[in-house]
Amino acid sequence: MTDTNRVLIFDTTLRDGEQSPGATMSHAEKLEIAHMLDEMGVDVIEAGFPIASEGDFAAVSEIARQAQHSVICGLARAQIPDIDRAWDAIRHAKRPRIHTFIGTSPLHRAIPNLTMDEMADRIHETVTHARNLCDNVQWSPMDATRTEHDYLCRVVEIAIRAGATTINIPDTVGYTAPKESAELIRMLLERVPGADKVIFATHCHNDLGMATANSLAAVEAGARQIECTINGLGERAGNTALEEVVMALKVRHDIMPFSTGVDTTKIMGISRRVSQVSGFPVQFNKAIVGKNAFLHESGIHQDGVLKNVETFEIMKPADIGLNEANIAMGKHSGRAALRSKLNDLGFEVGDNQLKDVFVRFKALADRKKEVYDDDLVALMQDSAANTDSDYLQVKSLRVVCGGGEPATATLTMVVGEEEKTVEKQGDGPVDAAFNSVNALFSHQATLQLYQVHAVTEGTDAQATVSVRLEEDGRIATGQAADTDTILASVKAYVGALNRLRVRREKSAPDSDVRQVGMYSV
Ligand code: KIV
Ligand code: ZN
Repeated sequence: MTDTNRVLIFDTTLRDGEQSPGATMSHAEKLEIAHMLDEMGVDVIEAGFPIASEGDFAAVSEIARQAQHSVICGLARAQIPDIDRAWDAIRHAKRPRIHTFIGTSPLHRAIPNLTMDEMADRIHETVTHARNLCDNVQWSPMDATRTEHDYLCRVVEIAIRAGATTINIPDTVGYTAPKESAELIRMLLERVPGADKVIFATHCHNDLGMATANSLAAVEAGARQIECTINGLGERAGNTALEEVVMALKVRHDIMPFSTGVDTTKIMGISRRVSQVSGFPVQFNKAIVGKNAFLHESGIHQDGVLKNVETFEIMKPADIGLNEANIAMGKHSGRAALRSKLNDLGFEVGDNQLKDVFVRFKALADRKKEVYDDDLVALMQDSAANTDSDYLQVKSLRVVCGGGEPATATLTMVVGEEEKTVEKQGDGPVDAAFNSVNALFSHQATLQLYQVHAVTEGTDAQATVSVRLEEDGRIATGQAADTDTILASVKAYVGALNRLRVRREKSAPDSDVRQVGMYSV
């Protein structure tokens, strides 16, 4: 295998993924995810969109200062102030990159109302400006897959001449199909002068469920950078999932002889963490990282797997950092065993966090005979999502229901500094409990999603609950786990309210580009 078969992995979880409604992450969470991406061998981390808000700028700057290996990239529209702001955020990185873009398809050209010639001039001007600041510049013709081929060739050539070192070809609306994705890259490589001097990238969205296939087809045609996100996080149906393209290239190396620099054993740990901090649960049957991805439930499958794992398994759970031995822990397990188990599951816990998690673990082990890996993952998600420093904290909940009477919930909650108790009725236990929260903390948010999953089997299983709330166009999700489903529901609801509150306080409308349209140029 030669170096020309090395495919760069460009992760945009912190930019395109975080842009997904409801997936907003805190500053500390962004730093943590960036650290994990840097450690796992991702080549380029798109850390954010610095001009979008003060928060984005601060996170990108800090990630740029801390990253040890990866190139750190900041996004900018085709405007000089955007590019300057991106450069200010990334300039301290060991390996900085400016990524600037403009929508080139007829529909996108109509937004800024630029003629083809005016847009071409703007591309020349902005890429030149970026290249004068940074010697690593990526340029993207947004909605490339719906751009006229002649015009696409023209603007790609202009960007290359102006100094772009990577040309990214986005399928912004998830419209293309594998054959077309490959043909587009091949066409550009053949027709554009200077195309052999730059790296072509593929950036796919999953609206038709073809993002992974489209990305791999582009690589076969000559693209050498795949843009993707952990768990396929992203707007609408999401982006290409990092774990899918990386594992496809590893498992089917026989027919796709390309390599990446990703340490695949870190996949499971980062997948769980991204799910936690974004509040987006991973669907059970999601390729590679879904809870069921390595489960063999049917008799025929189990029998086959026991005789020879290769009968039904094309990769080993350990390849993605999934520990095969799901050894139960119990109330006699000590701190060291818990720490080692959490490490196996991809969680690195410091001494203080271990203390807190250990208390929660003991409480769970008292209620549940055996604590399985999935219980521990849920417990970690719960302790990350709901902390003692939150503005709203659930202290106790008692619900009485049944017997033909309306359900009644008595809730004690800390609101700011004050501990308050209330009793409210509702149409069922969850409704009564949520009504009590609303009585103690008034808000305008509406419930968009309420989802309950059992973590393991048995009636003593923990429930993980996800709640999504919307208020004035802001979306926040909350997650919680408990053997008491109603308590988990209230904690998830309160968690989402805490996040909404933080978001409300942080967003300064005049500095938030997303409110005036990320795609306005
Ligand atoms: O999907 C898209 O076109 C993008 C660009 C900003 C690269 O995310
Ligand atoms: Zn995108």
